Amino acid sequence: VPRTISVALAGCGVVGGELLRLLRENTNSIEAKHGVRFDVTSVLVRCSERTRPVELAPGAIVTDVDSFLGAEADVVVEALGGIEPAGSIARATLARGARFVTANKALIAVHGAELQRLALRHAARLDFEAAVGGGVPIVRVLRESLADTPVRGIRGILNGTSNFILTRMEMGLSFDGALREARERGFAEADPARDLDGRDAADKIAILAWLAYGIDPTVVRARRRGILPDPEHLTADAGALGGRLRLLAECAQTSDGVTACVEPVIFLPNSEFGRTVGVQNRVVIDCGWGEPIGLSGPGAGGGPTASALLADVIRGARQLPDRAGTPVASASDETPHRWSISLDQGVPANLVPAIAARAGVVLEAARDRGSRLHIVTRRVAWRRIDLMVRTLKSRGGRPGVARLELEDSC
Ligand SMILES: NC(=O)c1ccc[n+]([C@@H]2O[C@H](COP(=O)([O-])OP(=O)(O)OC[C@H]3O[C@@H](n4cnc5c(N)ncnc54)[C@H](OP(=O)(O)O)[C@@H]3O)[C@@H](O)[C@H]2O)c1
Repeated sequence: VPRTISVALAGCGVVGGELLRLLRENTNSIEAKHGVRFDVTSVLVRCSERTRPVELAPGAIVTDVDSFLGAEADVVVEALGGIEPAGSIARATLARGARFVTANKALIAVHGAELQRLALRHAARLDFEAAVGGGVPIVRVLRESLADTPVRGIRGILNGTSNFILTRMEMGLSFDGALREARERGFAEADPARDLDGRDAADKIAILAWLAYGIDPTVVRARRRGILPDPEHLTADAGALGGRLRLLAECAQTSDGVTACVEPVIFLPNSEFGRTVGVQNRVVIDCGWGEPIGLSGPGAGGGPTASALLADVIRGARQLPDRAGTPVASASDETPHRWSISLDQGVPANLVPAIAARAGVVLEAARDRGSRLHIVTRRVAWRRIDLMVRTLKSRGGRPGVARLELEDSC
């Protein structure tokens, strides 16, 4: 006789709706493979009138959090988004020793460490595979497969929306046209600001740094630059240098602590990140084995994300010891890189060499590209570029910056 597990689902939009459909359509195969049946007892939404993808038992749809929590299901799945009421639902669920499964990266980046402590205290379980990389099983690889393996660094394209836009711009679309297409195809939210300014990728790399190094995601000091304010010039400059622009997120263990960043990087077109196109995500984990571990897959979308949620829902109630990690400091990254800087006419070109020199930046090339200047620097650490960029901004310039990795393999 299959064991019946009650499930309460908070949120029935793109992801939650798809999860309901998967649970309904796969009832028999889940029972055959795992010996369990899932009974969806309660679904929290904002609007009770809206049609949902599957028919639910009368009274299952609720619109207030208290009735939802009152159901006391064995597993609570959260696909609402945002910090509240998701955070309150997580705390109430874990505090009574039940399992909480979420797709919400913002919640985990802000409250993940606190929620994990709560889970351990109450012998509950917190799972969030769907929060990073959509259908790419990166959380499980770090949490379980590599649980005792020291990780040197993680690099990845973790934001499918910005990657889709950059890829479409490489094919000749304007930024506005690419954004419009991303919206029409359901890849961009109504407000894509968090995707474009790098906050979404910064949340995700903070979560991965937590899993790899035990550093609380809220104290990961990721330096962050998105593809704004001028993605068209950044992309054009990358093309002029024979490369492709990608929004890269990375974290690494150094002797001073953990460094993290999100920034545009120019890669060779045939490198693994240069070849990562559309809404695809790609993550590379360096364990010092010569060859890194690489994972690719759809970074967003209802189907892959719901499938990651379903895998978390199905897994046994067995509590796996979590990688607590020794507390380590978040450190600044001193690695020198070449940088590509696109500068509009806000700052006279003849002032730029002196501004660069004062920041300790040596210019390798400066080309006049009509309405703007395109600069390539010699290898220098980010903090010097940051100083130069801040000076250019204080003089009225709008510099766009991308890191150059044209010589490297990925
Ligand atoms: N979409 C993706 O490709 C994707 C990928 C990875 C992770 N995620 C994450 O998955 C989560 C859900 O995303 P989604 O795309 O499915 O969002 P969505 O389509 O906007 O759905 C959100 C759902 O939550 C409900 N809801 C929102 N706020 C609520 C509140 N205060 N009280 C009650 N119900 C509320 C909405 O109810 P109504 O239906 O009544 O409006 C809706 O059913 C987010 O954390 C997102 O970051 C999404």
